[in-house]
Amino acid sequence: MPNVFGSPHKGTGPTDQPVSRFGSHEQVVFCQDEASGLRAIIAIHSTALGPALGGTRFYPYGSEDAALTDVLNLSRGMAYKNALAGLDHGGGKAVIIGDPATVKTEALLRAYGRFVQSLNGRYYTACDVGTYSEDMDVVARESRFVTGRTRAHGGAGDSSILTAFGVFQGMRAAAEAVWGAPTLRGRRVGVEGVGKVGHRLVEHLREDGADVVICDVSEAAVERVRARHPDVEVVDGKDALVRANLDVYAPCALGGSLDDDSVLTLTARIVCGAANNQLAHPGVEKQLADRDVLYAPDYVVNSGGVIQVADEIGGFDFERARARAGEIFETTRRIFALAAEEGVPPAVAADRLAERRMSDIGRLRGIWL
Ligand SMILES: NC(=O)c1ccc[n+]([C@@H]2O[C@H](COP(=O)([O-])OP(=O)(O)OC[C@H]3O[C@@H](n4cnc5c(N)ncnc54)[C@H](O)[C@@H]3O)[C@@H](O)[C@H]2O)c1
Repeated sequence: MPNVFGSPHKGTGPTDQPVSRFGSHEQVVFCQDEASGLRAIIAIHSTALGPALGGTRFYPYGSEDAALTDVLNLSRGMAYKNALAGLDHGGGKAVIIGDPATVKTEALLRAYGRFVQSLNGRYYTACDVGTYSEDMDVVARESRFVTGRTRAHGGAGDSSILTAFGVFQGMRAAAEAVWGAPTLRGRRVGVEGVGKVGHRLVEHLREDGADVVICDVSEAAVERVRARHPDVEVVDGKDALVRANLDVYAPCALGGSLDDDSVLTLTARIVCGAANNQLAHPGVEKQLADRDVLYAPDYVVNSGGVIQVADEIGGFDFERARARAGEIFETTRRIFALAAEEGVPPAVAADRLAERRMSDIGRLRGIWL
């Protein structure tokens, strides 16, 4: 059973990061509705910056422990992501235990919505693995605290649009740091996973004049890209991609792409992609820095999606959300500058900057109104 009250502090790994004051969770709620089969856990890591915001993952976890561990990690990650995205939101996340393909029903989603509502705005939900905008429309029939709904229901729709745009902004900042100009023109960029985010990233890259190499386990995903860009090179899997004489490697499939092996064979000077939790274990960020590879921290550059859904709360405006996602360029720049100044990898600098904002802004609640 994971230790809920003293869950592992961010930064206690072998990287010698300082122990975060934001290490443990504020509130963890277990929700059950036997008739519909709902078993969910909502974790609120921090409300220092405002109501917690983060998606609902619907996944057939092997055990309750596995679900709890996941939701604790994911909600902590959201606190850092939302802080650096400049949002007035703390970090939260929810998991629903079960196979969405077989157990997802209207009754289950609405039962879940009632539990979200019961938190009275301490937690706003959104889509994640296994949940879609159409599901959020159903959850929203029971709760006011739902984002990621369809456009038809006043929502922001598919968040991969601004996620890809934000990753591209982060990549431009990394290109500037390494090659002196914020463009990928003439660079060779490898995109692992050309799903919702990856294929949109390819569009930005081609428009900017980059050469693109891709890989995906889905033939259909590869064909969609090839149909629009016949000159995009395709390689057979991640191992081939990281060796493919790249300037930039963009992991946009699953987490854990950067492990001891791939770091050693990586040809790229920059790693910048959409996938969450790209570093397989703490310490990989140091291995990358030692090899002079610039790593743009995943949760910084992939925050366009949460920026998009957060905008929904005040009435969605795409241009406003896009402008805010554009700020990922400047934030990534600041992180590289702080990393250089403090002599730490960018992943550590990003954590420090996020904690600084949580502390500086969260403290204001102490001024009594
Ligand atoms: N969609 C968003 O707004 C968003 C926001 C933040 C982070 N992310 C993260 O970005 C990543 C991509 O998200 P998405 O929405 O595009 O998901 P997606 O499921 O649409 O796309 C993932 C793609 O990766 C491919 N893939 C899976 N395993 C692979 C492997 N071993 N090698 C190569 N390709 C593989 C899949 O076939 C699929 O085409 C995920 O890690 C997600 O958590 C997404």
